[in-house]
Amino acid sequence: MDKFVIEGGAPLHGTIATSGSKNSALPALAAALLTDEEVVLERIPRVRDIRTMERLLVDIGSDISIDEKSPERVVLNTKKIVSPEAPYELVKTMRASSLVLGPLVARAGRARVSLPGGCAIGARPINFHLAGLEHLGAKISQEHGYIEAAAPNGLKGAKIVFDRITVTGTEDILMAAVLAEGETVIENAAREPEVVDTAHLLRKMGAIIEGEGTSAIRIEGVSKLHGATHEIIADRIEAGTFIIAAAITGSELCITGCVPGHLDALVAKLAEAGVTVTAVDDTTLRVQKRHGPLHPADMITEEYPGFPTDLQAQYMALMTEADGISIITETIFENRFMHAQELMRMGANIRLDGRQAIVAGRSHLTGAGVIASDLRASASLVLAALMAKGETVIDRVYHIDRGYEKIESRLSAVGARIKRIE
Ligand code: EPU
Repeated sequence: MDKFVIEGGAPLHGTIATSGSKNSALPALAAALLTDEEVVLERIPRVRDIRTMERLLVDIGSDISIDEKSPERVVLNTKKIVSPEAPYELVKTMRASSLVLGPLVARAGRARVSLPGGCAIGARPINFHLAGLEHLGAKISQEHGYIEAAAPNGLKGAKIVFDRITVTGTEDILMAAVLAEGETVIENAAREPEVVDTAHLLRKMGAIIEGEGTSAIRIEGVSKLHGATHEIIADRIEAGTFIIAAAITGSELCITGCVPGHLDALVAKLAEAGVTVTAVDDTTLRVQKRHGPLHPADMITEEYPGFPTDLQAQYMALMTEADGISIITETIFENRFMHAQELMRMGANIRLDGRQAIVAGRSHLTGAGVIASDLRASASLVLAALMAKGETVIDRVYHIDRGYEKIESRLSAVGARIKRIE
């Protein structure tokens, strides 16, 4: 298993480019199942979760070609659904595999998807996806750890009100509803930029959708979708991780190829903490060098446009450097504090109390051996290590490879002392 060895204390400088969004690319790949024509996706990040999704789509019947010279351009052709199934072996490594559920039922009238099981950050069931499909007329049954969804005569438009906001649930139902007969309205829909991007791709494929980006999405079903070409939006979580990398090391850094408006909640929170981030143009943010100390600033994770749970771990690493006490409240997942224990091994003073973490700084972290437990937890450990005194060895960095492409070479290009040991 690969490890990162990081020597802390090096300031960062220069420019770092943002990749395409993993969480937007995943539903986009699944959406390609909705047509028998060619779908071309650009700016697909070459991370492990994407490779897992591509493997799943090939098993289902997609023909996928990736040009070696521009691997971020993926061409998909699904002439026929050969096997409408997402097996346990893939779903257990990537829960977003359940994103094929909606498209498969809509196109093939049937899907068999393994139930995800436990997860490092919380229970994460898919009951809202299933209830949504049931409203659209699918028959749902469960056997041997698998969910079977069947709609042999096609899906029928319906009003769906999610009990709570779900990102992939909204995407899954959106992808099912575009081929359902009649009108579907999704209420309490997720407003995340990744949902909006999914709707944009579907519209290019011929779907009739309005209201994406608001909490009510209206879909008028069509009988067939066609091929399309679509560029995936920038990964706001990756950009946010790099912004916090600059903030934690007190560096000046430019983040290019991002959408500044998608990072408003983070930028506002950092301003409270004494870090200035300014938009240089439509696609570039600059983190300014910090001269004073970091201030503690309480933070609560929320659905978009609130502060994203996917940046909570990284923000916690930052708050260990702030002068004083900050309270971090996680409202999306019930168990997303695994990084706290590891940060404590590096000298952080954190008390966990249910959904809250009370961080008392400033901690003057020192390098230590730590273990990555999930994708964003690993990112927070990398950030802490960039600032800590001495050497940090992070084990199980395969977690970080799920969502950040070659993070070590991109960080070393801007001055970090980080290397991968195989
Ligand atoms: N929930 C249910 N039932 C459902 C669906 C969700 O109870 O059927 C609960 C979840 O357990 C959670 C909450 O509702 O407590 C919200 O979960 P949501 O469905 O929004 O999460 P997700 O769609 O499974 C996506 C991202 C996550 C990100 C969350 C929240 C993808 C592929 N994944 O997950 O990204 O944390 O939204 O923004 O889009 C990551 O990239 O590291 C990551 C975990």
